[in-house]
Amino acid sequence: MTSVHHHLRLATEADLLAMADVLNAASRQDPIYPYRFPDRHLYPSEFALLCRQKCSEYLASSTVVVCEMPSATQTGAMRVVAFAVWDTPASYHRVQARTGRLEPLPSQRPSSLGVPITIGHKDRMDAFKSACVEYKASFFDAKYKRGHVMLRILLCHPDYQRQGAGRALTEWGIQEARRLGLYTTVFASPMGLRLYTKLGFTEIGRFRVEVEGDEEHLEIPALVLSPTARMWEAGRKGSCGMVTGTAGAYNGASSTVCA
Ligand SMILES: CC(C)(COP(=O)(O)OP(=O)(O)OC[C@H]1O[C@@H](n2cnc3c(N)ncnc32)[C@H](O)[C@@H]1OP(=O)(O)O)[C@@H](O)C(=O)NCCC(=O)NCCS
Repeated sequence: MTSVHHHLRLATEADLLAMADVLNAASRQDPIYPYRFPDRHLYPSEFALLCRQKCSEYLASSTVVVCEMPSATQTGAMRVVAFAVWDTPASYHRVQARTGRLEPLPSQRPSSLGVPITIGHKDRMDAFKSACVEYKASFFDAKYKRGHVMLRILLCHPDYQRQGAGRALTEWGIQEARRLGLYTTVFASPMGLRLYTKLGFTEIGRFRVEVEGDEEHLEIPALVLSPTARMWEAGRKGSCGMVTGTAGAYNGASSTVCA
């Protein structure tokens, strides 16, 4: 299918800067980032570097799908405005997007770019990470023994939101999960919750991320969509160019389940 609005494809390393730009711009709207990086505005260049590092890790470890839309500033040009990071069971392979070949799973997660994370709130980052690992195991892994397709990251640049990119990227993973007969799973942000609920996801529980003595905390809902659930069809803004040639080609489950 083609679309006048957006086009989906697998990300390549050439998308790194565009992805980092999206992450930098959209992350302030998802409480998990301000919670862990409360001083990010004081260190914009460090945070930009961190965004780049995280995107590089996503490209190396997960299946990343980008959404391109016509640029608002450059007539006729397309730009990456949104992306999704998907993880699937370890039994699947990862698409090496650069070459288009299927490659076996790496034996371990690639190391990061080595940029020290100095601007994060360490206790909150630790609490967040361990809560995500714990609740991914209890909400999803323990329940879906055959595995599940987890939406790990979904971000759309604020200048391009409410135009269907987030929905198209989520539907991409839902279709893959259906093809594999697996549930689609996600830990939702407040903005994501609206989208996933509209797509038919069901909330199966919530968990808290908190540090003793800290006034701030996060409450994160866990959502699932059955492979046999009916998809929400109303109010579509147009179909998207889906990447279909890579079906079934994923990397394995990651131990880092959130940003
Ligand atoms: C969540 C996010 C990716 C959605 O991207 P998007 O491209 O704007 O989403 P879509 O345009 O596909 O929205 C599809 C539907 O979701 C719902 N929705 C999305 N954003 C919404 C919002 N801000 N308020 C209310 N409903 C919203 C609407 O039902 C919308 O359909 P409609 O526009 O026809 O009413 C984007 O808001 C974002 O990047 N937020 C910050 C990061 C974040 O929270 N990511 C989710 C992590 S789990």
